[in-house]
Amino acid sequence: MEKIKLPNRPLGPFPAVLVGADVNGRPNYATLGACGVVSLKPVLYISLKDTHYTTLGVRENGYFSVNIPSAELVQKTDYCGMVSGHQTDKSKVFTPFYDESGKAPMIRECAMNYLCKVIQSIPVFDFTMFLGEIVAVYVNEQCLTDGKPDPLKINPLILMNPNYYDLGRVVGSVFKAGAAPNAT
Ligand SMILES: Cc1cc2nc3c(=O)[nH]c(=O)nc-3n(C[C@H](O)[C@H](O)[C@H](O)COP(=O)(O)O)c2cc1C
Repeated sequence: MEKIKLPNRPLGPFPAVLVGADVNGRPNYATLGACGVVSLKPVLYISLKDTHYTTLGVRENGYFSVNIPSAELVQKTDYCGMVSGHQTDKSKVFTPFYDESGKAPMIRECAMNYLCKVIQSIPVFDFTMFLGEIVAVYVNEQCLTDGKPDPLKINPLILMNPNYYDLGRVVGSVFKAGAAPNAT
């Protein structure tokens, strides 16, 4: 199969997430493609531009939330990536909730929420990559099947410029699909 070389850019696909932080006493949210798993320990990374309003809150509080929007939240998700808390108050875009620590706002409307405590900050050009230990995970009850988070019910937004996509369908099972005879 012929390979076509593309520009050296992070083109995706990546899940789109909403990162939440309190800034100057109010919830603020930014849309991120740069978020993911770091290790089998419960640690996520996010990479935030240093000039973002959200970055101030993550630095100030040492906590952030990662919220997984379902496809129907595409308008609000994109909006949080288009306007900055420096100019526009985004605190009313979603309904925030907090755990006992009260350290970072999580988004009630999002299917899943991870509350993370910053354990390391790594400068990357004009961004900072924050590694966050997961201290709490929440899921909307209607997104469960047999007590487990169901990706098709969560239906996350997948980002690949210039569009958002939804999840589609199951194509294989983890640690099982690879055992099929034609996998090698
Ligand atoms: C789909 C999408 C993905 C984005 N990914 C990132 C990202 O990974 N890191 C980042 O720093 N900004 C990213 N942005 C830009 C911020 O979301 C945007 O600049 C936002 O307005 C920052 O808000 P704030 O200043 O209130 O924090 C993304 C925007 C969109 C629309």
